[in-house]
Amino acid sequence: MDRMSGKVAVITGGARGQGRAHAVRLAAEGAEIAITDACAQYPDVPYPMGTVDELAETVAAVEALGRRCLSFKADARDPAAMRAVMADTVAELGHIDTVVINHGITIPHTVEGPEAEDAIWDLIIDTNLSGVWRTARAAVPHLRDNGGSITVTASSAALTGLFNQAAYVSAKWGLIGMVKTLAAELAHYWIRANAVCPCAVATPLFLNPHHVRAFCGDDPTKTIEDMEWPATSLNLLPVPWIEPEAVASAVLYLASEEAKYVTGIALPVDAGTSIQPPGITPFVGTRLWELQQQVPSLGA
Ligand SMILES: NC(=O)c1ccc[n+]([C@@H]2O[C@H](COP(=O)([O-])OP(=O)(O)OC[C@H]3O[C@@H](n4cnc5c(N)ncnc54)[C@H](O)[C@@H]3O)[C@@H](O)[C@H]2O)c1
Repeated sequence: MDRMSGKVAVITGGARGQGRAHAVRLAAEGAEIAITDACAQYPDVPYPMGTVDELAETVAAVEALGRRCLSFKADARDPAAMRAVMADTVAELGHIDTVVINHGITIPHTVEGPEAEDAIWDLIIDTNLSGVWRTARAAVPHLRDNGGSITVTASSAALTGLFNQAAYVSAKWGLIGMVKTLAAELAHYWIRANAVCPCAVATPLFLNPHHVRAFCGDDPTKTIEDMEWPATSLNLLPVPWIEPEAVASAVLYLASEEAKYVTGIALPVDAGTSIQPPGITPFVGTRLWELQQQVPSLGA
């Protein structure tokens, strides 16, 4: 319960979802916390983004554990805002030891879409790639004196491709190159830089009507429950998606002393999706076998 005792963690995208899970987990292990979130609705993002009220809920969850929690309505794309977040955190909490750059968005678009969709590409790259870079740059001057860690939330999409997600996938692949370079440039300060690569996670970014359509087609009667079967077929382990707390465990490990020699890695937390061999996964195979028992002619 004290793996982060005496440490201060800054977490972006902390209003809810994985960012909230990271804040709560690191606080439970003794860290003081500063969370940031844009708390704004970007054009074209097809689901509600984090809000000021949700940011306050994360603060309350951390404080309920007896830890301090600063909160900032700050957009990671804005370098001045991120410099202010880091400076205010040091002024209030004394130092920064770990930075979890977790914020992100997703918007579907295609390579054959209209030219207007170039704005989607720009927004996603600016948020999911450049915003991470700007946050890291703002943090480094405060990590230099005592060392520390930067953990970036990439995705299992950083290890493969995805339909209708070129900008998202490109940004996430870019993050892997970014953390490897940060690891190289910052090692002599004892600053480590790593990425976590989750598969689908049960947060509003994934569990929303847009993804129901992506998995189940344009049938308005389909619900999140209907996504479970097709989503499970993407993973080796028989789950459709994972809980944010599972990613928080990996973030905690990478931030903690236990990972003191771990830098420059991309750690999958992905139910095996990224190493899934081509062909039929065990889950799909089992379902087909069950169907075959019910309808023997399928096996003929
Ligand atoms: N949910 C998934 O299936 C999944 C899978 C793999 C990776 N990821 C990644 O995990 C991270 C966390 O996402 P989540 O699943 O918790 O989704 P989420 O939508 O619940 O949380 C993301 C938070 O980031 C905030 N945000 C977006 N742009 C911002 C910016 N420029 N500055 C500050 N805050 C900003 C949003 O307001 C939101 O509160 C993202 O980087 C996402 O790409 C998610």
